[in-house]
Amino acid sequence: MNAGPVVVPPAERPSGCRAVPLLTEPSVGHYPEFRRFLVDTFGLDDRIGASGLLRLGDRAYELVFLGRSGQPFPSGVEIHALVPGLEPLDEDAADHDVWAILLWLTDGVDGEWSADTLATTGRVYRVPAAVEAAPTPVRETRGELLAFDLYGTLVDPLAIATELAGIVGPDDAERVAATWRRAQIDYAFRLTVMNRYQDFAEVTGRALDFALAEAGHPVDQDARGALLARYDALEPFPDAGPALRALADTGVEMVVLSNGSPAMAEACLRTSGLSAYFSRVVSVDAVRAYKPHPAVYRHLAEVTGRPVEAIRLVSCNPFDVVGAATAGMRTVWVDRSGTGFDTLGAPPELTVRALTDLPDLLASEHDGDITQR
Ligand code: 2OP
Repeated sequence: MNAGPVVVPPAERPSGCRAVPLLTEPSVGHYPEFRRFLVDTFGLDDRIGASGLLRLGDRAYELVFLGRSGQPFPSGVEIHALVPGLEPLDEDAADHDVWAILLWLTDGVDGEWSADTLATTGRVYRVPAAVEAAPTPVRETRGELLAFDLYGTLVDPLAIATELAGIVGPDDAERVAATWRRAQIDYAFRLTVMNRYQDFAEVTGRALDFALAEAGHPVDQDARGALLARYDALEPFPDAGPALRALADTGVEMVVLSNGSPAMAEACLRTSGLSAYFSRVVSVDAVRAYKPHPAVYRHLAEVTGRPVEAIRLVSCNPFDVVGAATAGMRTVWVDRSGTGFDTLGAPPELTVRALTDLPDLLASEHDGDITQR
């Protein structure tokens, strides 16, 4: 079966290619459902002027979104084939792929459009090469995807209080560790709102500087380096390994979604011995925005090729749970501290006090035994 188009992040645009225009639709704005689908799929709400990237097999296509003053963006769209170097355009493959993209578009929107309608009316204009190989849109068949938050959910950033005690003294250590974590998250929020992204290693360093200064402790560069290196080797929570092992036995696919930079998150998972449970590590770094920005959750759906409603986010951070739910994902809140959920946004779909409660809870839900709210 021919696979349909797969959305890939702009960062994966193949280099050394030229864009060959294939189709222009100057008035996509006439059909709001198409514009909505394009805005949601490619995160255009806050990426005016950005383009979208699709892969079909080993071929890449760029959707160039057109803006027109006085009209919601995008008002039009062009489909370009990205052809390597000076290679000729494979006309048959390009025609087949354009129809696959159009079928994917009509399959993605509700209303009177349907893939069959387009295939029928479009068949009149289709060259023979595309008729017999018309792809059927890929239906989601892989089941649910569990996406785990990293810091605070799988590994414990506050465990660094042990090392901090050697610098700030045992009485201040836990307070400085908590201030460090709060500043780290606060700085991530602020950088995102200001649209001034800095990677999480930089944010974590600046937050540590604040926490030490706020506690009245001068920053010794060697000690600072050792503390930041420790961030790549945080202890896993005792319930993480057993829970992931039990979930892996069910065959459910699991990924990590973290504010951490790719290097930080991968180092942390490696040293904590948890890497093997995850099919991939997804960092917010690719979209240069921190949780709970919607682009983070859209990116997760794009790179995993899953509809948001097939993804369940597992996090101890209420802002992360609310952000994922707002993006249309299912959610599990890991209520480690027992201090109650945020009053902002929808409550979590499921709540556990420890990750080890999750396998049975999901099994019961799949058997239709429980609903939590
Ligand atoms: C994480 O993204 C929210 O810092 C937490 O891992």
